[in-house]
Amino acid sequence: MKGRWVLLVHGGAKEIEPHEEEDNRTGCLEALQAGTELLGRGGSAVDAVEASIRVLERLPVFNAGFGSVLNVRGEVEMCAAMMDGATLDVGAVGALMGVRHPVSAARAMLRKEPVLLAGAGAFAFARDNHVELVAPESMVAAHREDGHDTVGAVALDLNGNIAAGTSTGGLEDAAKGRMGDSPMPGCGFYADNKIGGVALSGHGEGIARLAAAAQIMGAIKQLGPEQAIEKALSQMERVGGDAGGIALDPDGRTGWWHNSPHFAVALASRDAPDGRVWLHKAEEKE
Ligand code: GLY
Repeated sequence: MKGRWVLLVHGGAKEIEPHEEEDNRTGCLEALQAGTELLGRGGSAVDAVEASIRVLERLPVFNAGFGSVLNVRGEVEMCAAMMDGATLDVGAVGALMGVRHPVSAARAMLRKEPVLLAGAGAFAFARDNHVELVAPESMVAAHREDGHDTVGAVALDLNGNIAAGTSTGGLEDAAKGRMGDSPMPGCGFYADNKIGGVALSGHGEGIARLAAAAQIMGAIKQLGPEQAIEKALSQMERVGGDAGGIALDPDGRTGWWHNSPHFAVALASRDAPDGRVWLHKAEEKE
């Protein structure tokens, strides 16, 4: 055991209306708690990331799982991913309908050969691997908040293992089958025990065109997590769109940055296990 654990979760790079602030704070803290309970008793980073994201997928205030925005056909189509920094295993699902927790479909993929399955193939995989299925229309939340984005988590566990995960309903009114950065390693997420872990949120086409997660991983050692995110996401103006990211490194250094109006982020560690939550970067300094 290396003796240190850290967990960062986020509820999306987006604009948070005043009436949504409380739900964003309590939702991120609930997700944080689900992960810290595992990490605190020696659980794995992979388990903590999945547990945290499952909470966010359950809450309609977040654009993931039950709160997902609708595509142009009025359907909930979801993408999710998990990466294990110990093995560099990736499991990702895209344009997936009819599962309760897409992150758990991604988790079930983690030790399998394919990195990414989409659409009917992803559904068949989920069904055959005992991932909880639901009627696709039951995932349409009556009180979902439009204009919100991808959730994610990154964790460092007591054994020094790092994991990252994402989950999203994608972009509102998107074409059927459209996938953004969230299920693509090096774009919306990455984890490597030797370097760190990152999870991104925001305009998926822009993040993918920048290969933003790859850029951040390449800069973490030199710049540290926060400056690495800022440097990569500052380039969003070249491709258009808002984004936000969370990251950590093997020493437990953490960082987060966004160019979106808000970015709901919660952080806990062995030294501060109760955690803190912020809705935008300026709040951190208040
Ligand atoms: N960032 C999520 C998406 O664009 O689909």
